[in-house]
Amino acid sequence: MYDRYNRRINYLRISVTDRCNLRCIYCMPAEGVHLLGHGDILSLEEILEVINEAVILGVTKVRITGGEPLVRKGIVSLIDRISKIKGIKDLGLTTNGILLPLFAKDLASAGLHRINISLDTLDPEKYRTITRGGDIQNVLDGIEAAKNAGLFPVKINCVVRNSSDEPDAQAVREFCQQNGLEARFIHEMNLADGRFTIVENGHGGDCVNCNRLRLTANGMIRPCLFSDIEFSTRELGIRKALEQAVGKKPEKGSVNLNGNFHNIGG
Ligand code: 5AD
Ligand code: SF4
Repeated sequence: MYDRYNRRINYLRISVTDRCNLRCIYCMPAEGVHLLGHGDILSLEEILEVINEAVILGVTKVRITGGEPLVRKGIVSLIDRISKIKGIKDLGLTTNGILLPLFAKDLASAGLHRINISLDTLDPEKYRTITRGGDIQNVLDGIEAAKNAGLFPVKINCVVRNSSDEPDAQAVREFCQQNGLEARFIHEMNLADGRFTIVENGHGGDCVNCNRLRLTANGMIRPCLFSDIEFSTRELGIRKALEQAVGKKPEKGSVNLNGNFHNIGG
């Protein structure tokens, strides 16, 4: 699929749940969020149907996100089924890592290619504060588990306030260098004010070269993280929703007043 600006769209990011086992301060309000109802969330079968249709239209790359994708029931079986779809060349997952000690091996056996793990600091107390209660040891164990499972390269997503020269980011960079991990620094964004920047060492935020579509947990195709427009796979049908999203993909991001990271998946 090519869009109006001749960008080739071959990458689908899929949020499989809006739920999370953490409450990061830059992602969710302290009081929690209004969660989608069970019936609003796409079933695994519906997600697979969307992927199948997207592959027919030229998608070769899929990334599973959330919320936290590992809290979704049946996640390993979903990965297994996606990895068997002909035409999927790259299958990745972004996780906070808390449940990885439990899941890394099974995910790798199910055919997951790559994994991104979020880690903004190495200080256990700061980690607890940023995530509102998370235990960093689970993530460190999760990183080990991912490496041992052969999910190579393991990438670390580190959200920074201003720059990757901040002490916490520096510590994460050093930790990655010492442990054979790839660090990516993501500037903290606010979808509602339209402030966004490119990801150091990654691809996000680079509008000219953007090849992405997103599928939200409730079945909306979104052509841009920094825009409100979305197309319902349930109402329009999957193919139409995909085609309309590509046809209306904005040249560049602006503001997104109704979306949040926990349901669009970053
Ligand atoms: N700004 C930048 N990145 C964010 N993420 C969540 N919320 C924000 C935000 N406001 C990131 C997480 C994780 C990925 C899923 O999205 O840190 O790496
Ligand atoms: Fe959960 Fe990720 Fe949001 Fe943190 S950033 S609350 S881990 S979805």
